Amino acid sequence: MDRFVRTKKYNEKWIKENSMGPNPLWLLEDLCSKLKLDEGMRVLDMGCGKALTSIFLAKEYGVNVWANDLWISPTDNLKRIKEAGVEELVYPIKAEAHALPYAEEFFDAIVSVDSYHYFGTDEIYFPWYYHKLAKKGSQIAIVVPGLTREFENKLPDGIQAVWEPEMYTWHSADWWKYHWEKTGLVDIEFAGFIPDGKKLWIASDCDQELLKRDYEDYLTFVLLVARKK
Ligand SMILES: C[S@@+](CC[C@H](N)C(=O)[O-])C[C@H]1O[C@@H](n2cnc3c(N)ncnc32)[C@H](O)[C@@H]1O
Repeated sequence: MDRFVRTKKYNEKWIKENSMGPNPLWLLEDLCSKLKLDEGMRVLDMGCGKALTSIFLAKEYGVNVWANDLWISPTDNLKRIKEAGVEELVYPIKAEAHALPYAEEFFDAIVSVDSYHYFGTDEIYFPWYYHKLAKKGSQIAIVVPGLTREFENKLPDGIQAVWEPEMYTWHSADWWKYHWEKTGLVDIEFAGFIPDGKKLWIASDCDQELLKRDYEDYLTFVLLVARKK
């Protein structure tokens, strides 16, 4: 994990205690290597969970972050944001993905770490809701748990016993690319995998049984970066 030079600056215990899945700062750091983030930009961190990623974005890039989440209380997030010393830059908001309280074309960039698959796999969400929040010419980027390739109409035998129905929201990079590209609303700048995605997932101490049973190496993390036309 030597490549995560920015994440290394943050306390490991703090990351572990506040992560809601695999280390979100590793995922975000890889995603950010494909983004242009300049001081003062307005960034939506969609599905920020406990706001670790929002704090990271503010500290590392000096951007203003709208830390949007549904399950986690914004009051709790504000506590963490204050403790991290970035309350001037990070604004915690509680809002459901289909009822976001933001003006259209408000954001200079939209990022989402380990969250977009919960609400964004249908064909309506991106064209009717999500892309509208980004300014023309800005980047929209996600990192999600995904697959190296789509299953061939059947779950692999190994993982079947521990597979949960909601995991069908996990898809390949090509699936995600087509999902957004076909709308004609964005150009895709990158659709691929996080390097050593499965190793990183294992090192995060999550979903160990599932990962162990993934004999055919399906599981990974998908990065998708688009630019609004
Ligand atoms: C697995 S957690 C990841 C949180 C954080 N990004 C992290 O990696 O620690 C998924 C997040 O997606 C958010 N989420 C799920 N469904 C949502 C929806 N319909 N609208 C807004 N946020 C949603 C939840 O609030 C949750 O915090």
